Amino acid sequence: MKELVILIRPEKLEDIKKILDDINCGGMTLSTAMGCGAQKGTTLETEGVVNELKGFKTSINLLPKVKVEVVVDDRDVETIIDKVRETCATGHVGDGKIFIRNVEDVIRIRTGERGTKAL
Ligand SMILES: Nc1ncnc2c1ncn2[C@@H]1O[C@H](COP(=O)(O)OP(=O)(O)OP(=O)(O)O)[C@@H](O)[C@H]1O
Ligand SMILES: [Mg+2]
Repeated sequence: MKELVILIRPEKLEDIKKILDDINCGGMTLSTAMGCGAQKGTTLETEGVVNELKGFKTSINLLPKVKVEVVVDDRDVETIIDKVRETCATGHVGDGKIFIRNVEDVIRIRTGERGTKAL
């Protein structure tokens, strides 16, 4: 099993939900996040706005992102990556990233099921 941590533009949330629904994922966790990548969050439109709101100045701007965490069977990983790229790659910086981690085990607390049966 793998955990995919998918960071995307907030407006792409519905696309990600549909992708995960289509592969019949067992569940997902969503949070809103602030982040930056290689450009340190600098865009013409948003430069300085977030840091002004927070009342301090640094050279890094943090921009709003949506973070989706989903644990899936190994065989679904490449499908999800392809579909996320199809819907979320605009060609502009800030499209997001997918981090992939190994997951050792999962336990469904109610039943005691483990592994992929518990997803
Ligand atoms: N190395 C990293 N570690 C942790 N989180 C990251 C890292 N890189 C990016 N992120 C997260 O992913 C979000 C999107 O990053 P982003 O798409 O701007 O990456 P990038 O490497 O700058 O690629 P691009 O050049 O296409 O913009 C960031 O706002 C941040 O939340
Ligand atoms: Mg970037």
